[in-house]
Amino acid sequence: MERTLGIIKPNSVSKNHIGRILTMGEEAGLKLVNMQMKTLSQAEAGGFYAEHKERPFFQSLVKFMTSGPVLLVVWEGNGAVEKWRQVMGATDPAKAAPGTIRKLFADSIEANSVHGSDSVTSAQRETAFFFA
Ligand code: CMP
Repeated sequence: MERTLGIIKPNSVSKNHIGRILTMGEEAGLKLVNMQMKTLSQAEAGGFYAEHKERPFFQSLVKFMTSGPVLLVVWEGNGAVEKWRQVMGATDPAKAAPGTIRKLFADSIEANSVHGSDSVTSAQRETAFFFA
């Protein structure tokens, strides 16, 4: 059994896409085991995305992620990290496969609807970051 962190980003929350996104996770066989709606502080968003600190999009990403409430979710299941990554699709919606969350709901590579941990190791760090 594996757990992974998902974030439904501010653009998806404001456009009422939460229900459809959660349904897509559930239909892929993932079990929702924890969730919290929250407006992230600059420190939280910056700390969460610390690995991207030197990237040119970092400031803009923090601004976007603090622009409104997000839904933090913990998914559980066999191979949950990879399963959620498959449901989300590629980071860049232009490259995301048809039928994936990002293909359906992303507005841009930054406002790409959802986040998901990229490995079991980061899933552990990211889950603990928000759900101590
Ligand atoms: P996420 O999966 O949450 O991980 C890092 C985030 O940075 C990513 O989704 C996007 O929201 C954002 N991001 C990644 N690459 C770019 C880029 N080239 N330009 C703007 N934002 C990006």
